[in-house]
Amino acid sequence: MGTRVIAFANQKGGVGKTTTAINLAACLAERGRKLLLIDLDPQTNTTSGLGVETGPGKSVYGALLGEDRLESKIVRTKVKHLDLIPSELDLAGAEVDVARAEHYLHCFKKALLPLLALNRYEYVFVDCPPSLGILTMNAMTAADGLLIPIQCEYFALEGLSVISRLIRKVRESGANPGLEIEGIVMTMFDGRTRLAAQVVEEVRKHFGDKVFHTVIPRTIRLSEAPSFGQPIIQYDARSPGAEAYRALAREYLKRQAAPPAVPPPAGPPAPESAPAPIPEAGASTVPAPDETEVAGKQD
Ligand SMILES: Nc1ncnc2c1ncn2[C@@H]1O[C@H](COP(=O)(O)OP(=O)(O)O)[C@@H](O)[C@H]1O
Ligand SMILES: [Mg+2]
Repeated sequence: MGTRVIAFANQKGGVGKTTTAINLAACLAERGRKLLLIDLDPQTNTTSGLGVETGPGKSVYGALLGEDRLESKIVRTKVKHLDLIPSELDLAGAEVDVARAEHYLHCFKKALLPLLALNRYEYVFVDCPPSLGILTMNAMTAADGLLIPIQCEYFALEGLSVISRLIRKVRESGANPGLEIEGIVMTMFDGRTRLAAQVVEEVRKHFGDKVFHTVIPRTIRLSEAPSFGQPIIQYDARSPGAEAYRALAREYLKRQAAPPAVPPPAGPPAPESAPAPIPEAGASTVPAPDETEVAGKQD
């Protein structure tokens, strides 16, 4: 069993990285997949959102500096098949310490190696802080793929082009030549506004199949769940938010099972390396609006 390392990244805060990392992980675990979620954000939202206590020495900090083993930081969560490495507030200081290390972009990757060798997990999800600082760069260096949550609001594309440029840099620098966008998840979709639908359409125009069909609706229950330390499938198993993340998990697994798309022999640059110009109306890259599956309705 190989382990896929997926970083949840977006330099913007409040776009749904943590919510998506927790809930996609929980829904995959519900389907029997074995996962480890690593909280790399000093804000510790993933840790508290899963009802796990944080504290000094509980995070990846020591392991990043080679002073500790990552495996020793793993804790169980209340979700079967889902383990966690918590974060701690002091992890903010790791940016400075890691920057001084030799091969500073590779510290996290190096710390992960013995853990991956255990072959205990199918997926390691890494929830990144809302910046493109050293911790996020370390996650991008170690990751097989990036999962990018995007809030359905203005400037979504601007944010995406920033992260696209960074992906290109990470590849070209040799830090991680194989880094791919695993998928883009549109979050906090508000079906009452025309804007949300327009944003989804725009992002699809530029990033095509990278964008999951499943769109996550904005719901109160999803925002309440973390304060109870529960993923949505435990907090309110039948809510629209729970259905949405279950649908995302199904789609995610379906994609993993599908053979990789064969790229056309010659053509426009890969979507993640540079956003393509907006295609003309009727162009085939624009999916029909009914492909948008807002799984569950808002509550
Ligand atoms: N689909 C959603 N519906 C309603 N609230 C949401 C949804 N997704 C996230 N939130 C809330 O929005 C805030 C930011 O989400 P979060 O996942 O923490 O973003 P990030 O990790 O990118 O900073 C949190 O308070 C979270 O509970
Ligand atoms: Mg977060």
